[in-house]
Amino acid sequence: MIILGIETSCDETSASIVKEGSNGQCEILANIVHSQILEHTDYGGVVPEIAARSHIQNIDTVIEKSISESKIKLRDLDAIAVTSGPGLKGGLLVGVTFAQAMASVLKIPLLGINHLEGHALTIRMVKKIQFPYLLLLVTGGHTQLIIVKDVGDYEILGTTIDDALGEAYDKVSKSLNLGYPGGPIVERMAEKYSPSDIKFPRPLINSKDLNFSFSGLKTAVRREIENSKPIDNQKAYNICAEFQDSVIDVILSKLSLALNIFKNKYKISNVNIVIAGGVAANKKIFSSIEKISKDQKFNVFVAPQDLCTDNAAMIAWCGIERLRMKNIEISPVIVKPRWPLDKRAVTLRGAGVKA
Ligand code: KG4
Ligand code: ZN
Repeated sequence: MIILGIETSCDETSASIVKEGSNGQCEILANIVHSQILEHTDYGGVVPEIAARSHIQNIDTVIEKSISESKIKLRDLDAIAVTSGPGLKGGLLVGVTFAQAMASVLKIPLLGINHLEGHALTIRMVKKIQFPYLLLLVTGGHTQLIIVKDVGDYEILGTTIDDALGEAYDKVSKSLNLGYPGGPIVERMAEKYSPSDIKFPRPLINSKDLNFSFSGLKTAVRREIENSKPIDNQKAYNICAEFQDSVIDVILSKLSLALNIFKNKYKISNVNIVIAGGVAANKKIFSSIEKISKDQKFNVFVAPQDLCTDNAAMIAWCGIERLRMKNIEISPVIVKPRWPLDKRAVTLRGAGVKA
């Protein structure tokens, strides 16, 4: 099975050709990502109109490149998988319209893929992790703890009640005039910290539920910046480090709660935890989770960095996972800017605003 994946939900125009090998393993034949980062940098975040226009300008070249790099012919494609939500409506429309036209000309099935499901299943492209597993999904628009029970079957244990973690990183970076996207920059800055007396809150760390909140932390960072102007380099390094330490403390605490729920539910002693989404590229977050994994008896996995951030290979792979399901129904693809993974989950204020 060979699938073309298309991703345009946020600020990356991406097309990928993914093949299911004879043992069911994933072979990425091409994964082209055109990033719009430079177009959004001056604004400190993604501007929807600019994003949509850029997707229109780049989508055909990106798809052409994926086909030529993979050395397949269009007639070799068995299906097309396109992100149809959640995300920015303008961008989603570009990808879905293009995919619909191609699928109709080539007379092959078209699957509308949930972007979050793409992130949730990415790890299975590189490692045969069996269901169920516990997922920490951390992107620019979502922060969720999820039980991945099967393809298409997700239970959300906790979510952010305001800002997503990636968004918080981006805003801290913006407050320090460091650029966009903020995550990798703040992570690098934090490495140069020296001990200081800066102390930020650990939001909701003592609440018994599994929800997150990063809005107050972001405000505390901003206040610290206001009160200590002019900010020299060392001060900026220390602010980034203390922000990241606060985030990690909260993640470790919530992850332990989720782990207990998971262990009680499945009576499995050796749990697999997967970190996915753009923020999963953060090495300090991963190593901090890895440090407690032995004591708390779990294995932790993360996909390679280029598969953590938005890319179409994960969308194509999700298409393969879906096509492998028995009784799969291929329904007409419609754009869904809001599309929760778990329909049973209560929608919380501010949660799930973006992709
Ligand atoms: O999953 P993603 O590529 O796009 C969305 O679906 O939102 O995630 C993008 C987010 C951005 O907020 C970016 O700052 C964050 O991921 N990010 C990071 C790192 N690399 C990317 N956050 C923390 N540390 C990183 N190394
Ligand atoms: Zn994403």
